[in-house]
Amino acid sequence: MLFHYSANACLLPICSLYGAAVTTVEGVGSTKTRVHPVQERLAKCHGSQCGFCTPGMVMSIYTLLRNHPEPTSEQMIAALAGNLCRCTGYRPILDACKTFCKESICCQRKTNEKCCLDQEDDLFDKEEKVSTRLFSTDEFQPLDPTQELIFPPELMRMAENQPKRTLFFHGERMTWISPVSLDELLDLKAAYPKAPLLVGNTSVAPLLVSSACNPHNLSLVKDILTNAMAEFPEEKTKVFSAVLQQLRTLGGEQIRNIASLGGNIISRKSTSDLNPILAASNCMLNLASRGRKQQIPLSDIFADEVGNNTITPEEILVSVHIPHSRKGEYVSAFRQAPRRENALPVTNAGMRVLFEEGTDTIKDLSIFYGGAVSTTVCAKQTCRILIGRHWNKQMLDEACRLVLKEIALPGSDNGEKVDYKKTLIVSFFYRFFLEVSQSLKTMDPCHYPGIPMEYRSVLQDFKTKMPQSIQIYQDTELSQSPQDPVGRPIMHQSGIKHATGEAIYVDDLPSVDGELFLAVVTSSRAHAKIVSIDTSEALKGPGVFDIVTAHDVPATNEFYYSNDPEIIFARNKVICVGQIVCAVVADSDDHAKQAAAKVKIEYEVLEPVILTIEEAIQHNSFFEPKRKLEQGNVDRAFETVDNIIEGEIRIGGQEHFYIETQSVLVVPKGEDNEMDVYVSTQHPAIIQEMVAASLGVPANRIMCHVKRVGGAFGGKLLKAGLLASVAAVAANKTSRAVRLILSRGDDMLITGGRHPFIGKYKVGFMNDGRIRAVDAKYYINGGCTPDESVLVAEVSLLKMDNAYKIPNLRCWAYACKTNLPSNTAFRGFGFPQSALVTETWITGVADKIGLSPEKIREINMYKENEQTHFKQKLDPQNLIRCWNECMEKSAYYSRKTAVNEFNKQNHWKKKGIAIVPMKFPFGLGKRYLSQAAALVHIYTDGSVLLTHGGIEMGQGIHTKMIQVASRELNIPMSCIHFCETSTTTVPNACASVGSAGTDVNGMAVKDACQTLLKRLQPIINKNPKGTWNDWIKEAFEQSVSLSATGYFRGYNENMDWEKGEGQPFTYFLYGAACSEVEINCLTGDHKNLRTDIVMDIGCSINPAVDIGQIEGAFVQGIGLYTMEELKYSPEGVLYTRGPDQYKIPAVCDIPEQFSVSLLSSSQNPYAIYASKGIGEAGLFLGCSVFFALRDAVTRVRNERGLKKTFALNSPLTAEQIRASCADDFTEMVIGSWEEGSV
Ligand SMILES: Cc1cc2nc3c(=O)[nH]c(=O)nc-3n(C[C@H](O)[C@H](O)[C@H](O)COP(=O)(O)OP(=O)(O)OC[C@H]3O[C@@H](n4cnc5c(N)ncnc54)[C@H](O)[C@@H]3O)c2cc1C
Ligand code: FES
Repeated sequence: MLFHYSANACLLPICSLYGAAVTTVEGVGSTKTRVHPVQERLAKCHGSQCGFCTPGMVMSIYTLLRNHPEPTSEQMIAALAGNLCRCTGYRPILDACKTFCKESICCQRKTNEKCCLDQEDDLFDKEEKVSTRLFSTDEFQPLDPTQELIFPPELMRMAENQPKRTLFFHGERMTWISPVSLDELLDLKAAYPKAPLLVGNTSVAPLLVSSACNPHNLSLVKDILTNAMAEFPEEKTKVFSAVLQQLRTLGGEQIRNIASLGGNIISRKSTSDLNPILAASNCMLNLASRGRKQQIPLSDIFADEVGNNTITPEEILVSVHIPHSRKGEYVSAFRQAPRRENALPVTNAGMRVLFEEGTDTIKDLSIFYGGAVSTTVCAKQTCRILIGRHWNKQMLDEACRLVLKEIALPGSDNGEKVDYKKTLIVSFFYRFFLEVSQSLKTMDPCHYPGIPMEYRSVLQDFKTKMPQSIQIYQDTELSQSPQDPVGRPIMHQSGIKHATGEAIYVDDLPSVDGELFLAVVTSSRAHAKIVSIDTSEALKGPGVFDIVTAHDVPATNEFYYSNDPEIIFARNKVICVGQIVCAVVADSDDHAKQAAAKVKIEYEVLEPVILTIEEAIQHNSFFEPKRKLEQGNVDRAFETVDNIIEGEIRIGGQEHFYIETQSVLVVPKGEDNEMDVYVSTQHPAIIQEMVAASLGVPANRIMCHVKRVGGAFGGKLLKAGLLASVAAVAANKTSRAVRLILSRGDDMLITGGRHPFIGKYKVGFMNDGRIRAVDAKYYINGGCTPDESVLVAEVSLLKMDNAYKIPNLRCWAYACKTNLPSNTAFRGFGFPQSALVTETWITGVADKIGLSPEKIREINMYKENEQTHFKQKLDPQNLIRCWNECMEKSAYYSRKTAVNEFNKQNHWKKKGIAIVPMKFPFGLGKRYLSQAAALVHIYTDGSVLLTHGGIEMGQGIHTKMIQVASRELNIPMSCIHFCETSTTTVPNACASVGSAGTDVNGMAVKDACQTLLKRLQPIINKNPKGTWNDWIKEAFEQSVSLSATGYFRGYNENMDWEKGEGQPFTYFLYGAACSEVEINCLTGDHKNLRTDIVMDIGCSINPAVDIGQIEGAFVQGIGLYTMEELKYSPEGVLYTRGPDQYKIPAVCDIPEQFSVSLLSSSQNPYAIYASKGIGEAGLFLGCSVFFALRDAVTRVRNERGLKKTFALNSPLTAEQIRASCADDFTEMVIGSWEEGSV
């Protein structure tokens, strides 16, 4: 029997693969042989942007199809639950998946509402020709299972014929033994009791003696239980059902495929989702050691509350007996995690009750919790006391109080709030109480009333369904030549290569002779003097070549772009945890890292240590200049308004979480100080400048090359420059090539992210909702060096008005200097924070005067040609169009009525809906920042090589540039190639930032192509019927130059901060988003039900790429505003350093219905082909989910008569939602209802 399993390569010990065939993405298909349908469809459905996650997506889908050639959408969603993508927002990936599913891809809502397909019909009736097709399924190859790779016959023969024999693998530090029988395993365990038994290896690292062969993984357990559910009557399968429920969300499919039940149980981790339910259900463990067998209740292994005793090191768990449930027995499992799927639980529980026959008298009760202390715990005393009680309200009250007393949680753990866990502990029991009460009614409706109708919905957990989506864009004119690709949804130029794994990123570059690997040594103190650095032990490590410090920097170690420096290596003192102090170079990545861990640094702590914005204010610690904007007469306006509100909102930072971490390969060329720098950056010119300056060589010796970047989002600018300088200094010192690929943990620790933000506001307004005055102060946490913090603060001021006219306004912005890692640019650049502050006080105004937030938004929205608060003119016509269209497309008012109706009928679940407008100004503030250049060569065979200064980081810029060149030169895209961005071909290129890449580089490409065409025109005129190749041949023979540069001077932008006025922007994008959510008031969990976005992006050059940008940014916005939480220790150490602690949105987080419409008939005279730069704007619209959640919470609070004014911070996590929905349970934990309301 053959099984196909997807697995994480990093978790799978190679020795465990003996006898298995491994298929990687390269084996699935390639452009040289045959591209597999999965690869083809992912690419053609636009499912790859930067492409770094794409091989993982391919393998998950491919594996599923090998096992189920016609999967259900449920199986497809489950298969992708363990994959992360930071670019796409998952929708296009799921679109590709749907093409393999048997079911209809329509939204299935035909009965009560309009189906998505009908909507499309309606759209075509309108005058403007719009399209909803981003790809054509006709182009797809069919999936033919007979064409798949076969299992290698030699392995088949080996399995069938060879006698089984014990395998030994000896490594540097460990021995791996794979025994062939249980007896042999028991002997080995008797001989080496301390050696771990490696099964899935998901919980330990390979250490010493191990045994592996794991067909008994959790996926198999899932299948076995599913089959048993079908086989036995419901009454007998309640335990199976509860275990299955936990298994559905435990890890992702890749984890379940290799993790074993035994490993999960025996590890006894507090986060085990299985132990609480297995223990509560009286499961038995069958254990064996040499000469001895025993059966013990699973609950015994937690009897001492630390989970340490009972099983001896020699014992092996042979099997687990999961019992049938009995008549009168009820079993349930619960969990709450930071993300619904693929995330370890915050708290979970397993509960079981058995009643005296035919009664509601408790005969046996079992309650186990996970996540509370260091292992699974049992509330045994509570259970003992409750035996004999009736299942009623009194019992519930007592149970909650008892359980809270019994399960003692430690004070505070890794920044997690204990109150939330306690609230969950009682809320889970209450949920169990409701479930059982309802089941009692089903059993005996005459005696048991069950639970009120409006309580029932909370018994259903949120489930992830295959999202339905629709994308609407204006079609090209019929008159447009079919060969002209502009305006069409063209596939990403590298899409297929992303999907086959052929696309090359920095770490894929083949090793260079003598290459060294670099590992950084970072500071463990936030502010301290470096007393000494002891490298002696590190230098003795195997393969270690050298250690590089500030003393090895030949020229510049500190870069002064403002008053405070950016620093390559800390010299005498450190100013944050994570600052690079020195670096080890060795012959392998492992050796470099092992040695780096041995460098000893002695510190002398310096005062003050400033970590928070409050501490920075207290110490007057700011980067200069502080900025202010003012218009009207704010003080006078406050005297005349009817109402004033004051408040504050905190917005947490955000990690870029580009899937490709910071990477650089520096290759000294051996003469004239020349160096090739291959780097993952958005700004090759700054890398060149910093590397040259650090080495003290002219920039013309440093050749910087960027093929593509696996995601950047603003994080690969200055930080990439510093890291490239570290590697270059090492390469210079050693005269060897040096490769530096940051681990995820180091990347998160060192490179900073989006600025944490505090917005304080005072708003004056009239009773009719007109806002007259705003006085605000913004503080951003810049971290330890300036980077672009002052610029971020400025942008936050310039964009603070969002979509509203505020006649009297005063706002200050301060960039705080603290001892956190330096924060940097991040998609949106201050706007997502400052506009959230604005939308927050908008809702505050609405609450105060009892109007809806959308009314306040409408009343104050820019309406006619007006001026911003810095006196720039704007025409808000398209803002209003987006708003109205979004209202209409989302059917806002009828859905709001439906939400009200739902909320009346549901007590513990509530829905919320919100619509938010957006004005996103486009511009970089200064002309020189938006200049751009391109270089176009035509070769004598007619092929064209194009390059420009923009960087491909997933946003499809090269695809768009080829579209531009294709239109201008009037040749097919297939004739045009893009190779790389390099400082050797386009010097001094500006950074690819601020959504400007396509705008400015597009102009330069157009210019270059027009120059060429002008030169060719006489030849074309002479031979109009000739072909492109004829003309090129002729041009060459006439000595016409076939190479041209193109240039764009940049936008005429300026801002006078002294006067507080200027034209810092060239044009405005507009948009609106409506989101609907449902919350579970007992856990704080929520589900994104539906989002409708309308966006004005002018005339899209490539609707597939642009819609992809909007969706990807929107989902990143959902992450920012509702999920992604950075946690630090009180000493400034970042706790959240990987995907297990820091949760970015996954498939389960995208709205169940997700529609994006591009506003039609929108023109933009300032940018290439009337388009608009779209990279960043969509992120802010993620806040529509934040406000929909706020709406739901408001409804809960109104129903419960809680305080009307309440504050919610970002991210609005489950913990905050739960605390804001104060009730009896939060009261039990915190003491009072209102305290519970934040
Ligand atoms: C990314 C990720 C996400 C995860 N998410 C979740 C989650 O959401 N919920 C959850 O509950 N868990 C989660 N886990 C944990 C995972 O379920 C466990 O690590 C896994 O089940 C352990 O099984 P294993 O086969 O990998 O054990 P191994 O790592 O191979 O072994 C673990 C330990 O158990 C011992 N052992 C294993 N089998 C036996 C046996 N038969 N007899 C005696 N000793 C034995 C070994 O000696 C070792 O000490 C996650 C893990 C990862 C890596
Ligand atoms: S395309 Fe998925 S991470 Fe970039």
